This record gives sequence, structure tokens and C-alpha cells, in this order.
Amino acid sequence: MVKIAILGYGTVGSGVWEVLQKNQTSIDRNADEQIRVKYVLDLRDFPEDEVQKYIVHDFDTILNDDEIKIVVEVMGGVEPAYTFVKKALLNGKSVVTSNKELVAKYGAKLLKTAKEKNINFLFEASVGGGIPIIRPLNQSLTADEIYEITGILNGTTNYMLTKMSKEGLDYDEVLKTAQDKGYAERNPSADVEGFDACRKIAILLSIAIGKQIDYESIYTEGITNITKADIDYVTQMSMSIKLLASAKIDNNGVWARVSPVIIGYENPLSMVNDVFNAILVKGNVIGDVMFYGKGAGKLPTASAVVADVVDAVKHLNRNIMTAWSSEKLDILDIDGVEVSKFIRISYTDKEKAINAVKNLFGTDKIVFSKNNDYEFAFITNVETEKIINDKINQLINETCVSEVLNTIRFEG
Ligand code: HSE
Repeated sequence: MVKIAILGYGTVGSGVWEVLQKNQTSIDRNADEQIRVKYVLDLRDFPEDEVQKYIVHDFDTILNDDEIKIVVEVMGGVEPAYTFVKKALLNGKSVVTSNKELVAKYGAKLLKTAKEKNINFLFEASVGGGIPIIRPLNQSLTADEIYEITGILNGTTNYMLTKMSKEGLDYDEVLKTAQDKGYAERNPSADVEGFDACRKIAILLSIAIGKQIDYESIYTEGITNITKADIDYVTQMSMSIKLLASAKIDNNGVWARVSPVIIGYENPLSMVNDVFNAILVKGNVIGDVMFYGKGAGKLPTASAVVADVVDAVKHLNRNIMTAWSSEKLDILDIDGVEVSKFIRISYTDKEKAINAVKNLFGTDKIVFSKNNDYEFAFITNVETEKIINDKINQLINETCVSEVLNTIRFEG
């Protein structure tokens, strides 16, 4: 029998407890061991809940109990999670976590400690919730050189963009619904500003290249500027808009970005709706592979956590190597990345504004609004971000142009 402790009895923690009870027989069979919870750490008490007899309030009870072989950290946030996880590993206990902030910031360090102790630090649930993606990158795709990872890595924003597109609603309305449904937090910034997706793509890229990518260096733009007017154009063009977290690796180096992107229906990510996530991975031998499923939520996330517990039980005294060293890799400046953009402008003189666009951008891909006579949009050719931004600045100086209303990356 292997005894484990769960740190945190919130949404994911209670999900882990539930999955362990619900699927006890099959989980034990898969692990070839009985897996039983001995402690659940939480500041609160749960007098009405069966879990109460396992609740402890002091982490040291868990740390100093030699019977505990695996610690499940599902508290979230960097501290005290980092301190607890580090102490657990140093005390010879494997750790399983769903905490993307912790993994993005300290993943390489904690993996090193686990390796030195010949135990494991596993974090499948930190990216894509229930979708297997860490283990495939670390085990199934190791024959490949990965040259691109693009994902819809945040369920809340995907739900919001889907609802805006399907129901013609504005940003504030869908944010409220997302909050009422419990997808978005009262302070929704981690999701809507793209920070959550940024940490997740940093984790995937770090594993794909085996080096540390600092998430702070990744260009990150959320969905807060996306309006109903933008979505109307997207619908009119028979396209889709998604918050994409992308990383590409080529001879020039590595770049990564989180931003809304307008994509065509032939892109498989355009079909990923509501709270679902998907990750498209491109390898030089395998070609394209896509992973799809529920990227958030109590039970899907708990499913990935418990599967890691099973793996940790199967490898109790043997480290599962993950190639992610602390050596930092600087990513390329976004300014040099080639892109096409959808640009919406309002004008004082329509013909002159069209000519200014054609002269400056060399494009005749112009889309007229069905709803507003005082604006139109155009699609630029593929050029570097810097060249496009310089041209936008020149366009703003034309007297025939009133305002640049929005710019959104475009992959036709
Ligand atoms: N807030 C995240 C999401 C939860 O919406 O995808 C999973 O990390």
C-alpha cells in the first residue's frame, strides 16, 4: 500500500479525492498497488464531509511522516506551494502538481531535485487540464524534433470567444456569464489577459527544447480588446478567432507568443469551442499531432493528477527523466517575427483611406463593415511585426484616417 497526502481541498483537491474513491479498484489495478490518502492539508475544516478525518492543518505532519511517499500539491500559486514541494522532494517524497505558476517558474529546479533524490516531480495537469500533453512530449514524441506547438490553452477565454462569436454578444456580457458559471474568477485577469496561457506555453516549450524559457519574456496579449465589431468581421469572413499560445523553433531561434488570432476553418484549432482546449504539435518526423479535451474543471484536472500519482507509484524509487534543464534560452524579439494582421480603421474620406492602405500596405484585401459606414478593415501581407507597426503609425498620420480601431493577427 502506498500512502499519499493532498495539499489543498479546493476544486482540484476535492476532485482528486473523488476520483480516488470513485475509481479505486481500477486505479489500484493500474498501479499494481493500493493507493490510499492519509492526509489532506487545508486551513479549513469540512465537518460535513467524509474527508474531515484526514484533514490536517500543519504541513510538517505530512513532511515528517515517512509513510507518505507521494505529495499531491493542488493549492495553486507560487507560495507556500514552492516551499512545501521543495521540502517534500528533499525529504524523499515524490510530488504531483497541477500548479502551472509553480511549474513555469520552478519546473527545471524541482525536476533537478527530484532527479538527485531518484524520485519524481510530475505535472501533467498543469497544462491542458485532463488532456495528456506533458507525457506525450516527454515520452511519446522524443524521436522528433518539435518545431511548432500551438494551442488553445485557456478554457475560460475560449468559452468567451465562442459565445461572442455564436451569440453576437459583447465582451462584458460574456465575461459576466463566464464568471456566473464559475469559469472566470471575480478577478479574471490571469485568464483574459493571457497570463495563464503564457505560463502553459512556456512549460510546453521548455519541455520541447529541454531548456528554461522564462514566461516573462513571452509576448502576451489577452482578449480584453476584442469587441463585438471585430467578431462581426470575423463571422463575415467565415473565419474564427481564438486565443492562441504559439511557439516556433527554426534556424533563426525560438519565438513564442500569446495573442488572439483570426484563423480559417481549415485550421483544426478553429473547431475547438467552449471550454475545450487543444494543442497542435508539429514534429519533423511525425508531422502534425493534435491533443483535444477538457482543459479545465474539477474532474478532468483530477484525472490527470491521479494518473500522475499512479505513475509515481509505478516509479517509486526510479526517476522518470524529463529533459528540462535550468539553462536559459532567450527567445527572439517579437518585432522580427513575420505575421499578417487584420486592421480595422475608421476614416474621414473613404476613397482616400482605401488608397492610403493600398499604397502603404500593398494590399487590396479590404473588408467593408456591414454595420458601419465609417470604417473598414484590411488584411496586410506577411511582414515582420515591426514593419507592420511602422506602417500603422504612418497610416494614423494620414488625415483621411480617423483612428485605428483594432489590430488582430491573421492566419488565413
Ligand atoms: N483558468 C484556467 C482555464 C484553468 O480557464 O483554462 C485551467 O488552468
